[in-house]
Amino acid sequence: MMLRRRGKMIAGLGLLLSFILLTGYASRIDSVASGQSKKPVLSSVPVKAPPPIANIRPYSLRVGEKLYTKYCEICHGAAGDGKGFNAYTLEVQPRDFTNRQYMNALADSRLAETIREGGRGVNKSVLMQTWGGTLSHLEINYLVQYLRQFSP
Ligand code: HEC
Repeated sequence: MMLRRRGKMIAGLGLLLSFILLTGYASRIDSVASGQSKKPVLSSVPVKAPPPIANIRPYSLRVGEKLYTKYCEICHGAAGDGKGFNAYTLEVQPRDFTNRQYMNALADSRLAETIREGGRGVNKSVLMQTWGGTLSHLEINYLVQYLRQFSP
């Protein structure tokens, strides 16, 4: 007697459960089909307008600037004019990167070589250090791009 009752109860619960699941599913299909969803619509969330693309500096220049400030500015100067804080102590003056005529005569590969091998690697003053052990090829390329900014 007890067993039968329990069986009926379980069957009833099962029926109820499947009913709930089915109606839930059906209403979901409805809302998807009619394009309505209970989630907030993204376009209604206020978003700050991004800056115009033209104002975003390329990644290479931003990294180049960081590296330059960290390693080169002390001698070559923030403005790239060779008048860094440390310049007065040097017998050979650091290169002035704002000298367009001089800089335009040098290929990117030549600048990269000088940075990588230092003054001693390209027959210039040893006061220009060798950076190949500190900086990767990519970082040196970023620096070359950054140096070009001083004599546009
Ligand atoms: C201790 C001071 C010092 C620091 C730091 C330094 N330089 Fe120099 N650099 C010099 C000097 C001095 C020269 C000039 C060498 C010469 O003309 O004989 C020079 C020359 C150069 C040149 C050669 C341009 C040419 O005439 O061909 C480049 C390129 C250069 N530096 C890039 C860099 C970069 C990039 C960094 C940072 C990673 C850097 N330097 C850090 C002192 C420095």
